[in-house]
Amino acid sequence: MSLTHVLTPIKVGPVELRNRVVRPAHGTRLAYHSFDDLAEYHALRAEGGVGLSILEIMGVHPTTPLSVNAYNPAHAEGYRRMMGRLKPQGMKVFQQLWHGGHHTMPADGSPPWSASDEPGPVIGVVPVAMTKMMIDEIVGAFADAARKCEEWGLDGVEVHAAHGYLLHQFFSPNTNKREDDYGGSFENRARFTMEVLAAIRASVSKSMAVCVRIAPDDTEAGAGIEDNARLLDMMQSAGLIDLIDVSFGNKQTYPKMDRWHA
Ligand SMILES: Cc1cc2nc3c(=O)[nH]c(=O)nc-3n(C[C@H](O)[C@H](O)[C@H](O)COP(=O)(O)O)c2cc1C
Repeated sequence: MSLTHVLTPIKVGPVELRNRVVRPAHGTRLAYHSFDDLAEYHALRAEGGVGLSILEIMGVHPTTPLSVNAYNPAHAEGYRRMMGRLKPQGMKVFQQLWHGGHHTMPADGSPPWSASDEPGPVIGVVPVAMTKMMIDEIVGAFADAARKCEEWGLDGVEVHAAHGYLLHQFFSPNTNKREDDYGGSFENRARFTMEVLAAIRASVSKSMAVCVRIAPDDTEAGAGIEDNARLLDMMQSAGLIDLIDVSFGNKQTYPKMDRWHA
């Protein structure tokens, strides 16, 4: 079998990949122990010739803490060191930006944030239905995180709008019961994600790639393939994305909750 196309360069917006071997984000959680271990893990893939690695989910706000968090100054230092190790290898590196919504507990133990006050199946805690002020705060947090990623030397960011996390909780009628400008119609359910992408575009330079990961719901009455295709059209027409990463499913239907991972 010929690998003519796989092993030739391709551009993702402003970023040229040396080939089309792309590793999607997967949570290693190595940074809980050591950023140097995380750097070494990715450096081995870079040395093996990978074109693009998308780094695992990064919490953008203290309401959704994880092993890597954009707002933690100690993690900033870890990222700078990691990019110093990865940059010379020629592999491009994007960072996935994430808010878990009703699947994660805020660092201070207060209730999770979501579109509506219905608990998710992972932690089962009743979340706060976000106010407009909270929505604006999270839009700003995504933009700040993207700007930091550029400062730390990453080549792009991917907004995690899939798998039943916060942005998906707003987009899916299954989890969004709002009656304001962020609920009901397709445009309203899409508004939060569109605002996040627009804020990111405005906060990074033209040399950063901006990507999105989406996933059609496989739940009855959820946001299916048609809704997602329409969302992508809207993002593309507005010039907000350089790459579409299509996944499938969400936490609402994940069959093995006891083995939950990101
Ligand atoms: C351990 C593990 C962690 C994952 N973490 C993430 C993640 O941080 N972000 C994400 O969007 N997907 C995550 N995924 C999903 C993967 O990106 C990918 O879509 C999935 O493994 C299917 O890969 P395939 O399309 O090569 O079969 C994770 C998957 C696994 C197995």
